[in-house]
Formats: sequence, structure tokens, C-alpha cells
Amino acid sequence: MVLDIVIMAAGKGTRMKSKLPKVLHKLAGRALLQHVVDTAAALKPRSLITVTGHGGEHVKAACASMHKALPDLAFQFVTQEPQLGTGHAVQQAVPVLGNEGITLVLNGDVPLIEAASLQALVQACAGQRLALLTVEYGDPTGYGRIVRAGDAVQAIVEHKDATPEQRLLTEWYSGVLAAPTAQLKRWLGQLQNHNSQKEYYLTDIVQMAVQDGTGCVAVKTTDGVQVAGVNSPVQLQELERQYQKRQAYALMEQGVRLTDAARFDLRGSLQCGQDVSIDVGCVFEGRVSLGDDVQIGAHCHIANCTIAAGAVIHPFTHIDGEKLGVSVGAGALVGPFARLRPGAQLGNEVHIGNFVEVKNSTLAHGAKANHLAYLGDATVGERVNYGAGSITANYDGANKHRTVIEADVHIGSNCVLVAPVTIGAGGTVGGGSTITKNTPAGALSIARGKQATLAGWKRPVKTKD
Ligand code: UD1
Ligand code: CA
Repeated sequence: MVLDIVIMAAGKGTRMKSKLPKVLHKLAGRALLQHVVDTAAALKPRSLITVTGHGGEHVKAACASMHKALPDLAFQFVTQEPQLGTGHAVQQAVPVLGNEGITLVLNGDVPLIEAASLQALVQACAGQRLALLTVEYGDPTGYGRIVRAGDAVQAIVEHKDATPEQRLLTEWYSGVLAAPTAQLKRWLGQLQNHNSQKEYYLTDIVQMAVQDGTGCVAVKTTDGVQVAGVNSPVQLQELERQYQKRQAYALMEQGVRLTDAARFDLRGSLQCGQDVSIDVGCVFEGRVSLGDDVQIGAHCHIANCTIAAGAVIHPFTHIDGEKLGVSVGAGALVGPFARLRPGAQLGNEVHIGNFVEVKNSTLAHGAKANHLAYLGDATVGERVNYGAGSITANYDGANKHRTVIEADVHIGSNCVLVAPVTIGAGGTVGGGSTITKNTPAGALSIARGKQATLAGWKRPVKTKD
């Protein structure tokens, strides 16, 4: 049966106290709305209609980039201005909704709802009846209560409109429902705002469904995380921690050893081989893949990178491959305090030590740069030893140029290799050299002031005043 999805995202989010529309605040590195859109996409709907209002232009711009990543999803927008309640929000979608099939209504600020729960709700609806996702968990204060007669759902009563007896009801409405679209349209046309908030409540359609014989069923969940909404920075932080805990536990189930699940953050995807260990305070972003036996030291920030088997990343290392990616070869040693930037490709057994920065450079098997160095736009051969304090001068102020260091070269300390330049295989560059011309293979090249000695030279003596 065809499915259309409406995401309500017009609310102001006053309690976030932010210029940014609430649904664009990030949880685990993705906008709240992005979480909902990604989950919605898994249901393969005919269309995805986002109701925007506050910060609508920002929300649409953010959706444009989501659309690029999900080209098969038919994004549509409707504007709700002013915001007169959840029923009014869904009314705005009516002109772009089809007449048949099922409409699923989601909240842009309930990010962790899972596709399986939505699928169960759509199945319960079956295009025949109204289906509500309800919750029996935690404190229901503030939420709409599910009123039943015996087992049958009769109505949702908003907290503000509820009697003291109704406020004792513990089952509450998550804000997510699935409805037969034709009936939904009819019910929406009959909504009134005769309530304490003078709003058009979407929840009033429950009584209509019961009265006209369509009927209403509830699909109950006890998973508070899936239905938790974000209204404030505190709630955002709490949900972030719960989400991170879920991810951490899922990794540990796969055998990954985390020193402390509470000090682990994954804002993207992390693939791990066997016997991977991750110390405290690490943040992973984008797409990261760790091979067998990889060890990640404490307080590393690692993004968009592939690390092969047996590599060890020592503490406080920063890796971000951005679009180009970073790859670290098997058995490589990186850090502490190393920085790998986009296009850094380290071969097997490469060593990158403290305060070494590598950008858009390839280091072949066994090459080493152990201290205080910069390699940018360089091709480094096997077994090269790159001395402390040496840099490639890759940028002439207008263009970038390449430095080639052939196999078995030894670059002394504090050298400047002015690109474009090639250091011939097996050659040695004397410490403190500024190399501007290609050097021959196998030779010692030195480019620095010659050392002189003045024998018998006396230091000046302080004159009396
Ligand atoms: C709503 C439900 C309540 C349920 C709760 C779950 C109604 C009347 N009540 O409460 O039963 O327990 O969700 O969280 O539906 N929005 C718009 N336009 C509006 C108003 C809201 O787009 O005019 C959007 C908000 O941005 C938000 C969502 O709808 O994403 C829910 O709005 P919110 O005000 O948080 O929900 P309540 O009305 O308090
Ligand atoms: Ca409200």
C-alpha cells in the first residue's frame, strides 16, 4: 500500500534558546530532522512532506543537502504560518497528499524513532484504521493521555485539558500515528480549536475515528529513547548520552573493547574488526573503519579514515580525512599528538610521531617521521627517515607543489624541502639544509652556512659604569 510521510517541523523550539531552528540541532553529529528523514527513507515512502514554519528557509536548505544523499526520496515542503497546533500543521500537507494509501505522521524533534516501530504502526493501520504509537514508560506529565474504554482506545486528552483522574493515566501518546489517508483528510477538515490552548489538535482525530466506525488501535512501546522529544539543551544532551550508550553497547556486543562506554562518542559509522580496543575520550566522526587488533589511545579524534590491522594510534591524535580520506597501513604507529589531514596515506609499518602533520602525502612501507615535522603534498618512499623539525615548503603563496623523497633517503633535522623538488633514492640531506634543487641518488646534500671556528676568540667583558 502506498505510504506518504508527513514530518511536523514548524515549531519554534523556544526552550532551546537558540537562533538555529530546533530540528537542525545535532544529535550524534546529525540534525534531529536528518535522523527522522533517514529513518523515514528506510520505509520507502512515495513522498516525504516536511511542514516548516519557524526558520523554514534554514530547514529547507538543510533538506536540500539531505536530498542529495537520498536522491530517490521525493521531498516536499509545506509552510505552516502561523503555527496553530499539530492538527493545523498536518492540514497544510493536505493539498500535496494523495487520496489513497496510508499517511504516517512523524515529529521532527523525536529523532531516535526506529524504522521497525514505524513499520509495525503502518501494519497496524493497514489502510483500514487509525494507529497510534503509545508509550507506557516514565513520567507522562505534559503528554496527551490515552483514554480507553476496556481495551478499546477512545480518545487522546491533552495534559492541559485533562481531568485529575485522566492525569493519572500512565499510557501516553508519542506524537506518531498512521492513518488511512482518505479518512485523515476528512477528519482534518472537521477539527476545531475549542480547548485550553486554542489549538487545532491532531489528537482530536482519535475520537472522530472511533465515532465514524473507522476505529483506532494503539501500538505500545516501552522504549523511552525512541519516543523521546527534544525541547531543551538538557534533553538534547540526555538523549545524546543515551544514543551513545546504545552505540557503545552495540560495538561491545560485536567484541570491541571500550575502556568506558560513557566516554565514547560516535557521530557517524564505525566498522571494527576483531580485537579492537578503544581507550577513553575518543570521538569518531564520518566513516571510520578499524581493522583487526587496532588500538586507539585515549582522547583521539578520528574522522573519515581507514586504519588497517594492528595499527596503534597513540593518545591525543587528530585524524580527519574529510572528503579525500586518510588511510593508515597495517602495523603503523601514529602519535601521540599527531595530525593526519585529508589525503594522508600511510603504508604498512609507517611511524608518525608527536607533533607531526601529514597532508595529501603518501608514505611507503616503513617510512618514519617521528618528531615535530610537516609533510604536505609529498611522496615518500620506503624506509625513508624524515628528521625532527623538517618540513616540505609546498606552497609558494599561489600554488601547491609536490615533493618526492625516494626510497631509503635520510632527511636530517630541521630541513626545508622547497617544492617542487626530488630527493634521489638513498640520498642523505644534512641537518639544517634548505633544499631548492633536486638531489642525486646516493649522495649527501648539504645546503647551509659552513661552520667556522675562530681560535682564541675572547668573549666581551662588561665595562664598568
Ligand atoms: C503533542 C501531542 C501530545 C503528545 C506529544 C508527544 C497534540 C495536540 N498533542 O503534544 O498528545 O503526547 O505531542 O510529544 O498533537 N508543530 C508544528 N506546528 C504546530 C505545533 C507543533 O509543526 O503548530 C510540531 C512541533 O514542531 C513538534 C511537533 O509538532 O515537532 C509536536 O509539537 P509539540 O508542541 O511538541 O507537541 P504538543 O502539542 O505539546
Ligand atoms: Ca504544543
